[in-house]
This record gives sequence, C-alpha cells and structure tokens, in this order.
Amino acid sequence: MKTSKAFLKMKAGSEPIAMVTAYDAPSAKAAAKAEVDMLLVGDSAGMVVHGYDSTIPVTVEDMLMHSKAVKRGAPDVFTVTDLPFLSYNGPFSDTIQAVRRLMQEAGVQAVKVEGSGRTLTVIERLTESGVPVMGHLGLTPQSVGVLGGYSVQGKSEAAAAKLMDDARAIQQSGAFALVLECVPHQLAAAVTKTLTIPVIGIGAGGATDGQVLVFHDLVGLTDGFIPSFVKQYASLQKEAETAVSQYVYDVKQSIFPENRHSFSMEEEMDDRLFGGIKK
Ligand code: KIV
Repeated sequence: MKTSKAFLKMKAGSEPIAMVTAYDAPSAKAAAKAEVDMLLVGDSAGMVVHGYDSTIPVTVEDMLMHSKAVKRGAPDVFTVTDLPFLSYNGPFSDTIQAVRRLMQEAGVQAVKVEGSGRTLTVIERLTESGVPVMGHLGLTPQSVGVLGGYSVQGKSEAAAAKLMDDARAIQQSGAFALVLECVPHQLAAAVTKTLTIPVIGIGAGGATDGQVLVFHDLVGLTDGFIPSFVKQYASLQKEAETAVSQYVYDVKQSIFPENRHSFSMEEEMDDRLFGGIKK
C-alpha cells in the first residue's frame, strides 16, 4: 500500500495522482482493480448514496459504516475518510474519538477536513497525534449554507489571495495533501506550484498534482445534475434502468425464471410427494 510519503514523491516526480471516491465494497474493489492511487470515502455519500440534498446530515457513524465497507473491498489502497459536518469543530476529544474509530475500527489511513481558520488547529493537533490529514479548500460543501450554494470559489482577487494564504497555512499545519474544489484553473495551478504537498483537484483544471472524482458521477450512476467538470466514463444508471425494466417485463410475462434458474428434486420423489408437478 502507498503511504502519505509516496504522494509527496509522486508530486516531486510529476506523476499524476488518480483518486476516486468509494462508499461500499464493490465500488472500492472496482477502483482497486483499476489501480487508483488513493480512495476517498467522501461525505458526498450523503448525496449520491443516501439521497440527501447536501452533505450536512452525514454522521460519523455513516462514515464509519462506509469506511469499513470500502476497506473490506480495497484493503490495500490508501484510503482517506471525510470527517463529516461539525465532527471536528467541538471538543478535540470528540474529534480524536471519531478519528480513532475510523482508523482502528475501519482501518482507513487518513482523514480529510474542510476549510482553514479553526480547522488549522485540528490539522495541527491530529498530525501531532500521528494522523495523516488532508485539507480541502475552494468549494467546501459542508459550508454550503454560508457560501450560499455550490459555486466556483476564489474568483475575485481578494478571494484568490485568501485561498492562497489558506493553502499555505494548511501545509504549515502539517497536512500531507490538499483537495482544491471548484476554483479557477489559474489559481489551482499557482497553489500547486507554491505548495510542496500534493494538490488534488476537482473542478480545478489540469495543472494540479492529481484529480479526484465522485465514483457515481464518473460511472454515470446518477439521474440528477452532472457538474460541467465531470467526465462521465459510463452510463450505469441508464443500464440499470433498462435491466430492471427487462426483469419486470420478464416476470409479468412469466419469461423469468426459466428451468436453468430453478432447483430440482429427484423425479421419483416429485411423483411420490407431489404427483409430478413439472413446473
Ligand atoms: O465528499 C467528497 O466526495 C469530496 C470530494 C468532492 C473531494 O470531498
């Protein structure tokens, strides 16, 4: 398995880092087979798996359940789990307890936290405690209420300067990597050049050290809004709908199940017990 150090080396060697989210064993297994470098158990699970309209309702218990499933599916892939909304803004003992469970019970390798400001102390204290921490700047979905929606961040000169300062502070606090979400590609390129830690982009252009996409967006397992920065590599939602429609038709028309989908007993026993029911 790669370590947080390996990603530094990848940055130094200009080797792009491929990261994808996973929420269950099958998606994690698929990503592992595709030789992804790093998995993210994102709190986007709240939206793409649980059907909420934001990540706000996601709990530590949810993240624990998803993380355990992901590690069962991809035990050898370096896995980062999101600390969900308000789980790292209260007493540090609560944060450390959540992280302890994610690392010891689920077996993930690192955690991700959103924002700067008070989050910097969390990054510092967790890193001091031996926890690899990934930062997250730009569009930080846990702050959607404050940001006023899901829009591109860092567009004004002041906002870009603040984001650059925050990125530096996150690195200074000990984070091993940084996610930049939905920022102009020029700003993402500048941050990537400035920091020594790897910068993983989503909707941040092609100059970052790596990319992350949400699994369900990537494979087209969604019938909702697809952000313009997503490249869809399959249309699994459509395929699933077609498959289930065919199944419903087959059941209604008594086409399914066929004999090959059924179990059988000895003919003699069937004759004796049931009078030779053939179907
Ligand atoms: O929760 C998530 O999936 C994320 C990615 C969008 C980076 O934080």
